[in-house]
Amino acid sequence: MKFTEEIEKRKTFAIISHPDAGKTTLTEKFLLFGGAIQVAGAVKNNKIKKTAASDFMEIEKQRGISVATSVMTFPYNQKIVNILDTPGHKDFAEDTYRTLTAVDSVILVIDCVKGVEAQTERLMEVCRMRDTPVIIFINKMDRPGRDAFDLLDELEEKLDIKVRPLSWPINMGKEFKGVYKLYDGTLNLFDAENKSKVAENIVPITGLEDSKLDDLVGETDANELRENVELIDGVYETFEKEEYLKGKLAPVFFGSALNNFGIKEMLDTFTEIAPNPQPVETDKREVTASDEKFSGFIFKIHANIDPNHRDRIAFLRIVSGKFKRNTFYKHVRLDKKLKFANPASFMAQSKEIIEEAFPGDVIGLYDTGNFKIGDTLTEGEEMMFKGIPSFSPEMFKEVVNKDPMKTKQLEKGLQQLTEEGVAQLFTKQPGNIKIIGTVGNLQFEVIQYRLKNEYGATCDFKSLNYHLACWITTKNEEQLNQFVKVKGSDVGYDKDGNPVFLAPSAWMLEKARENYADLEFHTTSEFKVQL
Ligand code: G4P
Repeated sequence: MKFTEEIEKRKTFAIISHPDAGKTTLTEKFLLFGGAIQVAGAVKNNKIKKTAASDFMEIEKQRGISVATSVMTFPYNQKIVNILDTPGHKDFAEDTYRTLTAVDSVILVIDCVKGVEAQTERLMEVCRMRDTPVIIFINKMDRPGRDAFDLLDELEEKLDIKVRPLSWPINMGKEFKGVYKLYDGTLNLFDAENKSKVAENIVPITGLEDSKLDDLVGETDANELRENVELIDGVYETFEKEEYLKGKLAPVFFGSALNNFGIKEMLDTFTEIAPNPQPVETDKREVTASDEKFSGFIFKIHANIDPNHRDRIAFLRIVSGKFKRNTFYKHVRLDKKLKFANPASFMAQSKEIIEEAFPGDVIGLYDTGNFKIGDTLTEGEEMMFKGIPSFSPEMFKEVVNKDPMKTKQLEKGLQQLTEEGVAQLFTKQPGNIKIIGTVGNLQFEVIQYRLKNEYGATCDFKSLNYHLACWITTKNEEQLNQFVKVKGSDVGYDKDGNPVFLAPSAWMLEKARENYADLEFHTTSEFKVQL
């Protein structure tokens, strides 16, 4: 097959949701449709039900280096679909944010009972930064949820995106009868008894006035549907693919992942409209998928926490050209040539060594410590991909070394764990104080556990009352120096030595913005480019 055909076949995306909205269930149903798995229940739920580090460790140990569910690839409708998994637990949200830098589009799952939840908003903020195209799936329609129009209003308001329903539910909860597909005028009838079916119960009708509609769903529901569709056509703009691709308009589907309902129509639409591998900015130029020379970036590192197998897997998103096994590529940051004997691709639950991979693909590279998140590989060109920023953590703790004999081990452990993206490390002077920033408490336990088990270092944490970490940029060096002098105790430096304001409160941040007009405060580490 020609190189350009390979690119046009790729659809690389992530499913995102607030925990419990149905991401895992939907992923599994996609794999069923794609033929990648045969039975429901095959996808291991990577959720951590109890928020204890020991549970997390247990899960990680079981998963070990077989990170099968990190990327799932399957063919569907003559396309190759790559689903990038994101952690279910909110404390690992930063991992999800980074995964979003490696996809070309997302499917957002909303629980029809709960509507837009906190984590949904954060995730969508990240999508908005990059104008990632979004399809929305309103799930659990078999439950008595919120009014569909109210849900759409809430989506527009809280997520700052225009929406356009492409299907419309007929009732919900126990009375849920199915959906009317607004784009082709057919009915998809719901059959709660038959959960494992792959084919859907599509009934063509000649229009909303067709009396078959009344026969199938009853007169009351049929009339309500007629009214609703009239309202939708009056209120919402027609669906424009271009607007979707620009990240401005999100098509919405209604269904029930658990009941395998409403998924096929969404998947069919997804494979038709979702973007192919998109161009990515570097510090030198924009790289397009069809560029002949290979390039890619590392967006995730999965450590093997079994002390007997210390290797890690670095996940590479291919941006351009063809990746080939056993070929030397340039690791730009280290200015070093590396070749990979066992690059792996993932197919649902198995992983296999690949000979080649194409733009849009994500492959796993065995790593002995060469990579950190954001690293670029090329065929020799000196350029670094942008758009893989760190996001401001929300919890901060100072590291207290409990065993001065193991200071070196502690430093090494902290450095490696933060390179993997487990958490962020800031250093404050004087005294070389190490501050760890995370989005959730669980990571602190994970860090403590891993420092002990993998590096033999013991530490405690001292809580710090910071609100956000804001990276500072300015052309006015003098003002920056002045700021550091005045606010010294709240200024740290990130892993690359960039100054960061550890803002004690939203108010203090506001004040700093007012008082130091020439300084810019950013909540992500990458700010020079428009993401
Ligand atoms: P997540 O990955 O987004 O965290 O959610 P997950 O798919 O694990 O789903 C969360 C819960 O919601 C699960 O129940 C799942 O069965 C249920 N669920 C998913 N889709 C639907 C749906 O369409 N209708 C209904 N009624 N429920 C749905 P659980 O009890 O937490 O887990 P389990 O014991 O069923 O695995």
